[in-house]
Amino acid sequence: MTSIAFYNNKGGVGKTTSVINIAYQFAADKKVLVIDMDGQSNSSRFFVDEPKTGLEQALTRSVVMPDIALCPTRYPFIDIITATPALNDIVSIFYALSEATQRENTEKLLTFSEKYDYILIDLPPALNKITERIISACDYVFVPIELGSFAIQGISTVTGIIADCGAKFGGCFVNKFDRDNPSDIQLMEMLKSSLGTKALNSFLPFSRVIKNSVSYKLTAPEYMGWTFAAECVANLAKEIAEICDGV
Ligand SMILES: Nc1ncnc2c1ncn2[C@@H]1O[C@H](COP(=O)(O)OP(=O)(O)OP(=O)(O)O)[C@@H](O)[C@H]1O
Ligand SMILES: [Mg+2]
Repeated sequence: MTSIAFYNNKGGVGKTTSVINIAYQFAADKKVLVIDMDGQSNSSRFFVDEPKTGLEQALTRSVVMPDIALCPTRYPFIDIITATPALNDIVSIFYALSEATQRENTEKLLTFSEKYDYILIDLPPALNKITERIISACDYVFVPIELGSFAIQGISTVTGIIADCGAKFGGCFVNKFDRDNPSDIQLMEMLKSSLGTKALNSFLPFSRVIKNSVSYKLTAPEYMGWTFAAECVANLAKEIAEICDGV
């Protein structure tokens, strides 16, 4: 079982979009658990009609197990632990817990069931103690970014946060890449030269297929499986799996 978090302290860069699409891709032949750690509930509402509360209790009370918020999805090989806005209300309560309890309560999320091959964690853009603990406890952290000189400058902040948490940085990948834009091509080169092998070869293009699919509660490969966007989702999932499996 490998736990993979998607994190960037910048909002709107594609954490949720990546989690949803990669979960679908992985679920072709693996069992996947998605954990929504974001009170916005975006990935929860993609996968289920009514997200369950309870994750906030599992995080703050040792006796409450995470399966309180476990939901099956319409995909036979994907389950989800859902988030609701109640998660936003417990940050200070979690902060007041002892370090050991904070650690125990986050680790129990990632270890409560052996039946999954992959756990994909959708983190919020905010860095709080809960996010920090999850980053520390998971096996790999991947960082989606949108190209732009500010974003490239900001990468060292994100990798610094990951390093401070003692987590394994899986790599950074570009979302919303515009391959017809010379500036994006140049920024991609800059990213590769600054991050070396930690810049993934795969990317997700800026694509209406990716954007619109979510409105139909579909992943990009389901919505239009023959498109370049769907091919990119498959390539990204493959590269992430290979990094995590040490291929
Ligand atoms: N490759 C893409 N092409 C076009 N639109 C995209 C793409 N990726 C994401 N989007 C759109 O960008 C918006 C933000 O994406 P998403 O919600 O995945 O970001 P996020 O990092 O999870 O945001 P937050 O920080 O708020 O949780 C959404 O409207 C989504 O549909
Ligand atoms: Mg999100």
